[in-house]
Amino acid sequence: MTITSAIYPGSFDPITYGHIDIVRRAKKLFSSLLIAIVANPNKTPLFSIDERVAITEEALKEVGITGVEVISYDGLLIDCAKSYGVDAIVRGLRVNSDFDYEFQMALTNRDLDSDIETVFFMTAGRYSFLASSIVKEVKRYGGDVSSFVPKCVEQALVRKFAELNGKAA
Ligand code: PNS
Repeated sequence: MTITSAIYPGSFDPITYGHIDIVRRAKKLFSSLLIAIVANPNKTPLFSIDERVAITEEALKEVGITGVEVISYDGLLIDCAKSYGVDAIVRGLRVNSDFDYEFQMALTNRDLDSDIETVFFMTAGRYSFLASSIVKEVKRYGGDVSSFVPKCVEQALVRKFAELNGKAA
């Protein structure tokens, strides 16, 4: 089987330069790439699903990435992948501690549908520490996250924390 189309799933709460690096590299390998944002992640998201889709689309535009569709899904990733007829699931691997979870997820998804392969991209070294949770924590306390996320994402974080603190941004 030749792999042509792929889905890159995640919480994207919010998208970071680490995710964007994976999107750029996966785009080179696959003829089509879909970003799929899970509506109800295991952890409580900061941004609603509509906000995460909108922020992701805006961030791709800001960094000049075109031709990547952003969708949302609820339920099993494999069902979403099947409904879009993709051949592969893309995931990024940062540090050692990602491995157990990713291994478990890839084997579960392969068990659910052996025709869809999970393909891992090793993170770029400069993003190996980067996680959406860290970005949120830094911005919550007013830190500079401009080297971690595009400007529109930083602005969305500022607005969200102002909203949560009952202030206009
Ligand atoms: O960015 P994340 O939170 O690491 O992404 C995890 C995600 C959303 C890819 C994963 O939790 C997922 O696919 N959830 C949907 C439910 C599902 O399919 N679970 C079975 C796979 S183990």
